[in-house]
Amino acid sequence: MNRFTEAAAEIAHQGWTVMSDFLPPETIAALRGEAQQLWLQDEFRKAGTGRLGGYAIRPDIRSDHIHWLDDQSPTEAQSLYRATIEELRQEMNRQLFLSLSTYEAHFAVYPAGAFYQKHLDRFNNSDERTISCSFYLNENWREEYGGQLRLYLPNSYVDVLPTAGTCVLFRSDTFFHEVLPATETRFSLTGWFRRRSLRLV
Ligand code: OGA
Ligand code: MN
Repeated sequence: MNRFTEAAAEIAHQGWTVMSDFLPPETIAALRGEAQQLWLQDEFRKAGTGRLGGYAIRPDIRSDHIHWLDDQSPTEAQSLYRATIEELRQEMNRQLFLSLSTYEAHFAVYPAGAFYQKHLDRFNNSDERTISCSFYLNENWREEYGGQLRLYLPNSYVDVLPTAGTCVLFRSDTFFHEVLPATETRFSLTGWFRRRSLRLV
């Protein structure tokens, strides 16, 4: 039993969950500081869509900017994030029988007005991305700023505010979702639990 037992159980039975206080406030603040500094230093690039030959920059589909985490030289806050993700991975493997093996993550910045239209995270030409994980870094985010993650369920949807400490997890191959435009700059750390590919690409 650990603090991820309930979250993994919810993913097992409904495919998604929302957690709060995923990391301690000082770690969230450190990660937000890193993202803000990288953003000011122009260390982000325009996010694309698709993979390999299908990759394209499509500002009509998404207008965020991303910075991939470098696993070789993590900061202290990134190490704690990775350790927490690792605990969650083990708990999901126990409960979901998924063989999640690796994790990839990037910081994302949505400047005011940026969005990401309704999409699935599973690429057409790869079946590795299995569980999506969006973790939010914005302190004192208000409802009127917008920037919600809209997660589409079979007959409805849920809107999640990108408030610091909130972590949303969902099955990458099942759940369409979108990022609504905001009036403030929106910072997040988004990643994917992957399994080994079951087919040749
Ligand atoms: C993505 C994505 C959601 C979010 O990067 O694929 O859907 O809330 N992000 O940041
Ligand atoms: Mn997505």
